[in-house]
This record gives sequence, C-alpha cells and structure tokens, in this order.
Amino acid sequence: MDDAVRLLLIYFHLSMISFNLAQDVGQFVYNGFLGAKLHLDGIAKIHPNGLLQLTNTSKQKMGHAFYQFPLKFSPNSSSPAESLSFSAIFVFAMVPELQNLSGHGIAFTISPSLDFSQAVASQYLGLLNTSNNGLSTNHMLAVELDTIRSPDVQDIDENHVGIDVNSLKSIDSASATYFSNPEGINRSLNLISGDPIQVWIDYDEAETLLNVSLAPISSPKPNQLLLSTPINLSEILLESMYVGFSAATGTLASDHYILGWSFNKAGKALNLDISKLPSLPPRRKAEKKPGVMIIVILATVIAVLITITVGIYIVRRKKYEEIREDWEREYGPQRFSYKNLYKATKGFKDKELLGAGGFGKVYKGVLPSSNLQVAVKKVSHDSKQGMKEFVAEIVSIGRLRHRNLVQLLGYCRRQGELLLVYDYMPNGSLDKFLFTNEKPVLNWSQRFQILKGVASGLLYLHEEWEQVVLHRDIKASNVLLDSSLNGRLGDFGLARLYNHGSNPQTTHVVGTVGYLAPELARFGKATTSTDVFAFGAFLLEVACGRRPIGLPEEVVLVDWVIEYWKRGAIIDASDPRLEGNYVIEEMELVLKLGLLCSHSVPTIRPSMRQVMQYLDGDATLPDVSLESAAIGTFITPNEASDFVMSFPSSVGKGSGRSISSVDSILTGGR
Ligand SMILES: Nc1ncnc2c1ncn2[C@@H]1O[C@H](COP(=O)(O)OP(=O)(O)OP(=O)(O)O)[C@@H](O)[C@H]1O
Ligand SMILES: *[C@@H]1O[C@H](CO)[C@@H](O)[C@H](O)[C@H]1NC(C)=O
Ligand SMILES: *[C@@H]1O[C@H](CO)[C@@H](O)[C@H](O)[C@H]1NC(C)=O
Ligand SMILES: *[C@@H]1O[C@H](CO)[C@@H](O)[C@H](O)[C@H]1NC(C)=O
Ligand SMILES: *[C@@H]1O[C@H](CO)[C@@H](O)[C@H](O)[C@H]1NC(C)=O
Ligand SMILES: *[C@@H]1O[C@H](CO)[C@@H](O)[C@H](O)[C@H]1NC(C)=O
Ligand SMILES: *[C@@H]1O[C@H](CO)[C@@H](O)[C@H](O)[C@H]1NC(C)=O
Ligand SMILES: *[C@@H]1O[C@H](CO)[C@@H](O)[C@H](O)[C@H]1NC(C)=O
Repeated sequence: MDDAVRLLLIYFHLSMISFNLAQDVGQFVYNGFLGAKLHLDGIAKIHPNGLLQLTNTSKQKMGHAFYQFPLKFSPNSSSPAESLSFSAIFVFAMVPELQNLSGHGIAFTISPSLDFSQAVASQYLGLLNTSNNGLSTNHMLAVELDTIRSPDVQDIDENHVGIDVNSLKSIDSASATYFSNPEGINRSLNLISGDPIQVWIDYDEAETLLNVSLAPISSPKPNQLLLSTPINLSEILLESMYVGFSAATGTLASDHYILGWSFNKAGKALNLDISKLPSLPPRRKAEKKPGVMIIVILATVIAVLITITVGIYIVRRKKYEEIREDWEREYGPQRFSYKNLYKATKGFKDKELLGAGGFGKVYKGVLPSSNLQVAVKKVSHDSKQGMKEFVAEIVSIGRLRHRNLVQLLGYCRRQGELLLVYDYMPNGSLDKFLFTNEKPVLNWSQRFQILKGVASGLLYLHEEWEQVVLHRDIKASNVLLDSSLNGRLGDFGLARLYNHGSNPQTTHVVGTVGYLAPELARFGKATTSTDVFAFGAFLLEVACGRRPIGLPEEVVLVDWVIEYWKRGAIIDASDPRLEGNYVIEEMELVLKLGLLCSHSVPTIRPSMRQVMQYLDGDATLPDVSLESAAIGTFITPNEASDFVMSFPSSVGKGSGRSISSVDSILTGGR
C-alpha cells in the first residue's frame, strides 16, 4: 500500500515537472501517454497502457493529438526556447487492415490552431481540405509519413517521408529508408510493417535546415539523414503554435499509433526510453488470420458434429420408431419398447435368427433389463383394422399360464409390423427332432411324455381356462421343447391374426395342409373338434416319425397307418428310428388314438379331456373299426394346391405348407 502511494506521489510530482517544463521551456518526454497533456480529437484515444491511437481501421476517419498548450516560435528571439528551432523524437507504428494495403498516414505537425473540424481525411491527412490546401495563410508545417501515393498531391510513392509547408504537396520528400550505421548502407523501411519506427526531426533557426531521419526501433539514430531540407520558417510559422500529430484513413485504413514522444524547444530532444514504451495490441495481421481459420475450422467441425448428432438422432428415432395408440395404455406391462427388443436381438441380426415360419422370422434375444431369454417373432402386418381387437386378444392370451404352453410375454407394434415376445425354448421345435438329422432321435418315453404334455396344454386351452381358446395350428413345428424336453404348444391364436390382417369381410381358413379337418376346409369354421383332428395328425407324426403328408410319394399319413392296420400290423407303422424300443401298448394306443382323432366325422372324434384319459390309461380306447376310419378324408396336397391356385394372393404368405382359403368362395365353389 505504502509503495503504491509513494509511486502515485512520484507520478504526480513528475507530471508537475513536465507541466512546468512545458510552460517554461517547451520540453517534454512521453514514454507512453498516460497523464500526458494532450488535446485529442477525431477518433484518437489513449489506451489503458498509454498507447496513443490516432486512428483505427474505420474508413475516412482522422484523429489528432496535440500538446495542449501553444508554444512560442519567434524569429530573432533572445531566448532559445522561443526561437524557431525545435527538436522532436517520436515512435510510431502503422498496422494496416489488409496486408500491404495501407491508408493513409501520420503527420508530425506544427499548426496555429487545434481546430481541424474543416479538414478532411485520406490524402489531406486530417490537416487541410481542397479549398485551403496550399494557401500561405495556413501557417502549417508537417512532416508526413505517407503510405499512399496520391497523384493530386504529387506523391513520389506509397512509402515516403515528406516535408509539407501549408500544403500536402511536399516541398521535399524521400522514400522511407534508413542508414544502417554498422553496414554503412541505406536500407528500405516499410512504414506499414506494423513494427514501431523511430523518427528524429530537428530544425535549427540559424541553419534553416529541417533534418529528418528514421529507423526501426531496434536501431540507433542513423548517422546519415533521410532529409535535410533548407527551409526558412520565419515567414511560415506564427508566434504561437501547437505541436502534435494528425493521422487519417481513406477507403483503405490502418491503425495509426504513437508509442512515445520527446520534444524540446530549447535544444536536443531527450532520447525516449524504448523499454518503457507501451506495447502494441496483438497483431491482427499475423495472428487473426490463423484465428479466423481456427474459428472457421471450429465452426465447420461443430456444424458437422451437429449434423451427425441430429442425423443419428433422426436415424435412431426412425430405427426405434413404433406405433403406440391410446387404447394400448391399459396393456402397459405387456407392451415392449421396440428399442429394447432391438437391443435384445442385437438389431435382429441373422445370427440371432431361430427360424422362419409362415408368419415371419423368429429371433433369439436377451432382454436388457432382466437378462431374460426370449424369442421375438416378427410378423408383418399391414392392416390397422382389427388391430385393437387382436392386441386385446394377445394380451388375454398372455394371461394363459400352463406348463405345456409357450408363455407369451408381450408384444410391440411398429409400422407394418407386429412383434410377439415369447419365453425362449432352448431345444427348439419338435419337427427338427423328428424329421431332420440335426437333433438326436427322441426315444419313446420322451415322445410319449411330449404327447401327453401337448395334450394337457390343449386340454387347458379348450376346457380349463375361463374361455375356450382354439389353437388352430397344431403341428410338430408349433410344439417347442423346453430345457427338460417338455412339449409346449406355441403359436396359439396367431391364426386369428391372419384373419385380422386381411379383409375383415372374408374369413380365411388357416391351418396347415395335412392337419386340416375336412369340415374346416368345407365350412371354414374352427372348433375344438378341428383342433382335435390336427392333434390326431400330430400323434401319428410323433409315433411314425413322418410328416402327415409324406414326401416324396405324397402319401397321406393316415392312409399309410390305416394300410398297416388293415394288414393287422399297425405297430409296424412306428418310426423305424426307434428300432423297436417302445412300449407296444402305448405305441398302439397312440396310433389308434391318432386315427380316432383324425376321423372324418367330427362327432366320432374324442374331446381333449377324453384324449387325456386315454393317454393316462384312465380310460380304454373304444374299438375303432376299420370301416369307420377316415380314409381319404384329409385335404390332400392336390386339393390344397387347388386352394392355393384359387387364391394366388395367399401364396407365399406361408412357407408353402400353410394355406388359407376364403370361406365364401369355398362354400360357393364346392
Ligand atoms: N419360443 C421359442 N423359443 C425357441 N425357438 C423358437 C420359439 N418360437 C419359435 N422358435 C423357432 O423358430 C422357428 C420358426 O417358428 P414359427 O412358429 O414362426 O414357424 P413355424 O411354426 O415353423 O411355422 P408357422 O408360422 O406356419 O407356424 C421354429 O421352428 C423354432 O425353431
Ligand atoms: C474506431 O473507433 C471509433 C471510435 O472509437 C469506433 O466507433 C469504431 O467502431 C472503431 N472502428 C474499428 C474498426 O475499430
Ligand atoms: C532577424 O535578424 C536578422 C539578422 O540577424 C535580420 O536581418 C532580420 O531582419 C531580423 N528579423 C526580424 C523579424 O527581426
Ligand atoms: C507485401 O509487400 C512486400 C514488400 O513490399 C512483399 O515482399 C510481400 O510479398 C507483400 N505481401 C503481399 C501479401 O502482397
Ligand atoms: C476548408 O477549411 C477552411 C478552414 O480551415 C474552411 O473555411 C473551408 O470552408 C474548408 N473548405 C471546405 C471545402 O471544406
Ligand atoms: C542538420 O544536418 C546537417 C548535415 O546535413 C548538420 O550540419 C546540421 O547540424 C543538422 N542540424 C540539426 C539541427 O541537427
Ligand atoms: C542514403 O540516402 C540518403 C537520402 O536519400 C542519401 O543522401 C545518402 O547518400 C544515401 N547513402 C548511401 C550510403 O547510399
Ligand atoms: C529568413 O527569412 C527572414 C525574412 O524573410 C529573414 O529576415 C531571415 O534573415 C532569414 N533567415 C536566414 C537564416 O536566412
């Protein structure tokens, strides 16, 4: 605190001295202009660091900074301080707005007045105007540092120093060079380099010579002068004159700075203390260009980043887009988000594909929230009609719980797509075990267990739940095996979706060739009894290890079993891969029960409760006579292809095994 106060006192003391000196002998030294006795006008200003800025890069502007007290210039005066002689040293810098394109310059000036309101900028340097330029009544002396060649004032070039008397047309001028003392040669000097340049101006009344020299701030005063111009100032200057600087810009502009100024009316000006001069602002030329580049690059990078982010956001929005309607709100728990299913199945990757069926592809997935393994079935679905009803059905199906049903966990809807989420069955579908070599052969007890399980599941659907649920598509590929090889019915209810998905005015008969009860094909009405028919075909399938419609001979399985029965050796219809390892009574039961269930007359078919009792051995199978057996009552492939040909729009919906027929045409046509 003490130090600061002391410094402040010293500062005031010093400025008092310089004030007194100025008043008395016209001498001052400004190493920076803080507290300087200057009169500023135009756009001139003093920076907080003491730097005097005469102009900035605004066009057609001028700025003046003059010592605020007039000084005495009288010829033949006895006092040297009042003579015409003077000595000045100053340091200036010109920083052009555009490299090598400067405007206009600075003039050290001795003027009778501080009023430059009538002066103009550009080539008049803020000193004179067109009408008074050249008039002897101006009483003005200036040393111009001119950076533009203005032909109307006969400038020699665009980088010169000139002596101006009452006119901007110089009486003497020279290109800006400086004599380099150590090298002994003249070096050119670029006034608009932006670097500080020191100027020495001396006039001696007796010699009538105005000496001017300049040099870079790092160089000493040159031993040779740039200009030494004979001039008698006694007729030119008035007794009372102001000394200072004027600067102007034109259509091109520079920042014009004065860093320090030393002046003496009575002898040599004291040298400036270069180390104390204020520094210039950071260079626009050298540093702003890369700055601009950086800004441009940054802006570009940011723009690109924003575009990418927005792009990703939109793509994600699109990717995870789903349909959710108000009426679905009550099904909240059963509703899966598409995003979760997408993540669960790793984006529905082919690697996660479990298989493809008539309705769509099935993917394996692991729910991110619970780590639960699921199977996600993607069903393409174009129609919005009946959706509400169907989703309601799905949700109620989701409430079905039985150890022999594949649990439906929930659903999700997207544009043209419905996703059904099921419990994952690690052993896949039964058909793979029966008809392909990719899985091991199931032994008889496993098969019998599966049959009983599926029967129990179907019984639950038909009789044990609050509503009768028809499966509509019982077959080996819709029976899935859990980790302990329990048979579980899957896909129940999906057939209904197929109905809803198409024109609601017509009813499609859905099912699979070989499992279709004849009356279903005829009247298009699914009943528990048509489910039993399909279950009969399934029983035969499992026992015989053959598809209901055999390839390549196109033998209908029922006919084939009946053939053996006729020969009195129904047991020989059993799957040869069992190699005779089965309980004969059970095998016989299954084969005969299969035929009974697949009977062409619906009323002869047992109910699922009865089927259950037969399989459990709680009831004996009634004698099924050969005559009443259902010979040739299956829908054969030929008939099936009739359907398909009749309704080509249905072709391709399934894998070729599933067919659909329109009820109205069926009843009309057959
Ligand atoms: N919950 C599940 N767990 C494990 N695998 C499954 C599951 N659901 C289906 N799969 C597999 O996906 C395959 C295709 O199933 P999907 O039910 O779509 O076809 P499908 O039953 O063969 O034919 P359709 O659509 O005509 O009934 C099945 O064969 C099975 O291997
Ligand atoms: C120049 O200075 C004037 C007055 O201080 C100001 O209004 C103007 O904006 C400045 N121009 C530039 C280019 O800095
Ligand atoms: C100044 O002195 C010179 C001689 O030294 C004389 O010729 C001249 O007239 C004087 N001028 C004035 C204005 O007194
Ligand atoms: C500026 O002028 C100098 C010399 O006059 C020259 O060397 C330089 O190339 C010029 N720069 C531009 C950008 O014109
Ligand atoms: C030029 O300046 C003088 C005063 O310095 C003024 O009287 C005159 O009107 C000005 N002329 C023009 C054209 O501005
Ligand atoms: C001006 O320069 C000349 C040499 O050209 C010199 O003799 C004279 O003393 C100088 N005058 C001043 C005031 O420096
Ligand atoms: C340097 O320039 C000045 C002024 O133009 C001239 O008088 C002087 O002779 C030059 N010196 C050399 C060494 O060229
Ligand atoms: C300068 O001019 C004045 C008047 O014209 C004259 O009296 C004086 O002697 C001149 N000075 C010199 C040094 O020639």
